[in-house]
Amino acid sequence: MPLDLVIGAQWGDEGKGRITDLLARKADVVARFSGGDNAGHSVTVGDQLFRLHLIPSGILHDHTHCVLGSGMVLNPVSLISELDSLSSAGIDIEPERLSISSNAHLITPAHLALDGAEENARGSSKLGTTGRGIGPAYTHKTARRGIRLEAFLDPEEHLAKYQQHLDQANRLLETVYGQPGIDIESAVLHFHEHASRIKPYLADTGHLIDSALRQGKRVLAEGAQGTLLDLDHGSYPFVTSSHPTTAGALLGLGVGPQYIDRIIGITKAFQTRVGEGPFPTELQGELADRLRGSGEHPWDEFGTTTGRPRRCGWLDLVLLRYAARINGFTELALTKLDILSGLETLMLCTAYERGGVPSIDLVGGPSTLDEMVPILEAVEAWEDDLSEISTWNGLPEAARIYVGRIESSVGLPIRMISVGPERDQLIART
Ligand code: GDP
Ligand code: IMO
Ligand code: MG
Repeated sequence: MPLDLVIGAQWGDEGKGRITDLLARKADVVARFSGGDNAGHSVTVGDQLFRLHLIPSGILHDHTHCVLGSGMVLNPVSLISELDSLSSAGIDIEPERLSISSNAHLITPAHLALDGAEENARGSSKLGTTGRGIGPAYTHKTARRGIRLEAFLDPEEHLAKYQQHLDQANRLLETVYGQPGIDIESAVLHFHEHASRIKPYLADTGHLIDSALRQGKRVLAEGAQGTLLDLDHGSYPFVTSSHPTTAGALLGLGVGPQYIDRIIGITKAFQTRVGEGPFPTELQGELADRLRGSGEHPWDEFGTTTGRPRRCGWLDLVLLRYAARINGFTELALTKLDILSGLETLMLCTAYERGGVPSIDLVGGPSTLDEMVPILEAVEAWEDDLSEISTWNGLPEAARIYVGRIESSVGLPIRMISVGPERDQLIART
């Protein structure tokens, strides 16, 4: 009865969707556990490119049952539009294929407006959120003022609470932020429409996952965001408002740790970040542009959700070791190794220096990242195109050394190496 976790080891966009899609071949249930439509997971299947925000990437395999866990915050507008766009791509999602936790929290139009207003008010200290209402929705959840999706089971009964929520938000928007309030009448109308569309999918997903595990089925948890965006363990306050880590997976699914088999940390072969906050190995200029790509390929480093150019830099082994510690990774999966081909210079960050003192660990946690000077080591680069290589021995020696260097530095095996977005562009190692 194994539970496998796919966890972002960096600042998100590591290729979790792509790796989930691979592992989902052998999974019975694929579940998201935290975050909302701030996530953007691109998965390439043949000539089709799917950009998923809420529905687990496992939906692209006919045999899976997909779950949106209780740790998530869900915007019904995005959810319905994703269901519709999957349907027009030939994937009709009946309730037999998708269960949504009735304990997940609703993202309302008020949360979207508040996300924008709060970012505006932060001025030059803005966080660079995705603007999807994530922070305000989790704020209301922890303040015990949130609205759970269970409201859709009987919208009439929950209407007064919903209206009160909108009223309160409007007072805040108008008086504190000096912004127009939202149109309550139309929000209420949509509340009923959304309820009737989403109600058939609502379920006790904790029970569903537990039953599946007890029956010996394989459950795959698809992380969103990444460890360094974790509310507790990320580069606070430049984080998201949820827990994209192993602990968050258990919490957001409602299962204990006894079922866990693999905890797979997904890392790119380099480092990226979208939004504000510290980034010790960040590059500027030509090298950054080279890692980012010009935008002509779907995999170039521009946000799947917001289209913003991602900041790019060298792979940071200090942070990768930190992520391995926070999550208890049992292995790593390395993506985008192909992007490094043909670079004249290739560097790895092996340690930090702070006040003249070097350290290979992040002592003091991510809040000290601003003060860290990365110690970079040049490693041998390679010319060869990797995109059609499917075996370990087929990789150029310098690429094997690069991978080996990461493994020995983090103390974990890299069992999957991705060399392109397509399903078969993968080197599997036993
Ligand atoms: P996620 O949010 O972690 O699922 O990652 P994203 O989907 O936001 O970003 C990863 C991007 O890289 C997607 O466009 C993937 O199709 C693409 N991708 C994943 N693995 C590889 C790889 O090994 N090589 C290349 N070139 N692209 C990849
Ligand atoms: P996936 O699942 C990359 C970042 C935002 C911002 C910060 C807070 O595709 O890896 P939020 O809207 O969550 O309040 O924004 O978190 N962020 C992501 N960055 N990938 C993501 O998801 C992200 N989700 C949120 O850019 O810096
Ligand atoms: Mg992404």
